Amino acid sequence: MSKNIARKVYNISVIGAGHVGLVTASCLADLGHKVCCMDNDSAKIDLLQKGEIPIYEPGLKELVSTNTLQGNLFFTNSMEEAVVHGEVIFIAVGTPPKESGEADLSYVENVAREIAQLMDSYKLIVEKSTVPVETGEKVKNTINLYIEKDVPFDVASNPEFLREGSAIHDFMHPDRVVIGVDSERAERVLTEIYGPLNAPIIITDIKSAELIKHASNSFLAMKISFINAVSRICEKVGADVEKVAQGIGLDKRIGQEFLKAGIGFGGSCFPKDLDAFIHIAENLGYDFKLLKEVKRINEEQKRLAVQKIKDVLWIIKDKKIAIWGGAFKPETDDIRGAPVIDIINELLNEGATVSLYDPQAMENLKIIFGEKLHYADDKYQAIEDADCLVIVTEWDEFRNIDFDFLRQRMKLPFIVDGRNIFSLQKLQDKGFIYCGFGRPQITNSKSGVKK
Ligand code: UDX
Repeated sequence: MSKNIARKVYNISVIGAGHVGLVTASCLADLGHKVCCMDNDSAKIDLLQKGEIPIYEPGLKELVSTNTLQGNLFFTNSMEEAVVHGEVIFIAVGTPPKESGEADLSYVENVAREIAQLMDSYKLIVEKSTVPVETGEKVKNTINLYIEKDVPFDVASNPEFLREGSAIHDFMHPDRVVIGVDSERAERVLTEIYGPLNAPIIITDIKSAELIKHASNSFLAMKISFINAVSRICEKVGADVEKVAQGIGLDKRIGQEFLKAGIGFGGSCFPKDLDAFIHIAENLGYDFKLLKEVKRINEEQKRLAVQKIKDVLWIIKDKKIAIWGGAFKPETDDIRGAPVIDIINELLNEGATVSLYDPQAMENLKIIFGEKLHYADDKYQAIEDADCLVIVTEWDEFRNIDFDFLRQRMKLPFIVDGRNIFSLQKLQDKGFIYCGFGRPQITNSKSGVKK
């Protein structure tokens, strides 16, 4: 259990047992609150009640089991139970993108309506899902429309900044907690809930809090696309983007993080939130061209991976391409928006055979690609007789490699390093053809094709 214990214990309900909901519920329980986590997916709730976790997130299983045993956390598929239990109700349901890029808020609306019909005492309803600015207002209107009993309520915005793979750490040690409120009561309650974290708390109006989430994610995506654009220039002149990123990142105003060049960002947040923010701006009469360009650069990076293979192999048809990594980043099995999907589709379209290995995401990749790929049991099996190895996700187990073994087993000693994890010097010494992103390319292996 966390050493930071809440001074005042709240009855809290979290609606939605997805990544954000589950992490939020178990961390709030760990702070000592009494938390009910609700989802209308009964199969998921059955799993959680048995102590099984439907997603891969380091530390989550332990956190759920400790807090369930201690009686601070329980799961239900009953909305009524959740609304009766929680004085504070976090809405953490999905806001998936529609075809236009606009967020689909029907789940949020549905939850707001149900809460309105079921509540019989004061409730603080907190938006946790990433939602467009002015959603708070719409939630409030919906509750006012459907409320059945004459009870007071508040709406607040409390965006999450959790990264998959380090979500528990991010929850417990946030850079800041953002609380958007329009009543003193809501401010007090949320400040008390987050007090034990000892993090800076930013109190704003609801709309500003909603915008902070979109602006933060877009800014981070912009940093990545910026360094990727710089990496293109580096390649043209033979400079090394790793050094350039280090050189600019040491300026405190810029910062070192989110300056890793490569095949670009994926995930359930950046691509979706960028689209949503572009759409929100458009609706408000502002053409956010900067963000459209951030998106375009990211798309280009994925295509660049296949281009680099073509630059060396010329024709991809009938070549065996090994891929290490599929998850959109290490320490997760999540492949939503992952660059690997576009890369594999392009390789298959060109007629390549693809052999894939990822330590966690294989099952999810099988759902998308079925029989179209060869799924290797381990990283070395994947590269057997391959014409090229592409690094897509920088899992730790890919960093320390026996390059001599690799060279013996591959048909060609050729690596496209989508995350710049290898040392140029080492790859040159070992006789590899090596194409990183934004780094000098080694286009000739010392002794050419293995005999
Ligand atoms: C992100 C935000 O960081 C988090 O605050 C928000 O709440 C949800 O979205 P997440 O999607 O889990 O979190 O992953 P993150 O670690 O931010 O990485 C996103 C993508 O960017 C990954 O595909 C990663 O590989 C890529 N990335 C990240 C880069 O390509 N370069 C970088 O320098 C950093």
